[in-house]
Amino acid sequence: MKIYFVSSNKHKYIEFRRILKDVIDINWINADYLEPQSDNLIDVAITSAKWFSHYIEEPFFLEDAGLFIDSLGGFPGVYSSYVFKRLGNNGVLKLLDGVENRSARFVSVIALHIGGRITIFEGVVEGTISEEIRGGGWGFDPIFIPNESNGKTYGELGENKDLFSHRGRSATKLRDFIGRLVA
Ligand code: IMP
Repeated sequence: MKIYFVSSNKHKYIEFRRILKDVIDINWINADYLEPQSDNLIDVAITSAKWFSHYIEEPFFLEDAGLFIDSLGGFPGVYSSYVFKRLGNNGVLKLLDGVENRSARFVSVIALHIGGRITIFEGVVEGTISEEIRGGGWGFDPIFIPNESNGKTYGELGENKDLFSHRGRSATKLRDFIGRLVA
């Protein structure tokens, strides 16, 4: 089945393509869009999908994601993209300098628009923020350690990131949903 994916983020596209390849043929629409102001990823994803549904007739999905750090009251959360651009990984590590509680979670919310309806798929991964930058990847990959990865950051996991990641979880739910539709 062919579905459009709307995002200006090439890394997200590469990960979704990898996770969904057996079931969904993704057509990437490399477009930026103005995200509504909200402290909730689901609201952002739904509002963005409604807005895009005026322009795309075919099935499409988009994703809103965020890193929520407990000792910072959930910051940067919905502001993750902005904070990454402004502070980067070094800035986040500085905010946590000397902080003992380094627990955090990564959340991915997919909004799928198909047949005039929006369906949400959420993926959540608990983890911690590393003491230093480790590995490659993109965004916060080098500083986020999912709980089950033997201490490796997303950036050190390479393609195995998908087995642990917030996106791996939300995309697997999307894949199963589409799999049932086409069965
Ligand atoms: P948005 O979903 O485009 O609003 O962006 C959320 C921001 O969170 C991205 O710009 C990245 O900085 C960060 N982010 C989301 N998912 C990941 C990931 O899988 N790895 C690293 N950073 C991520």
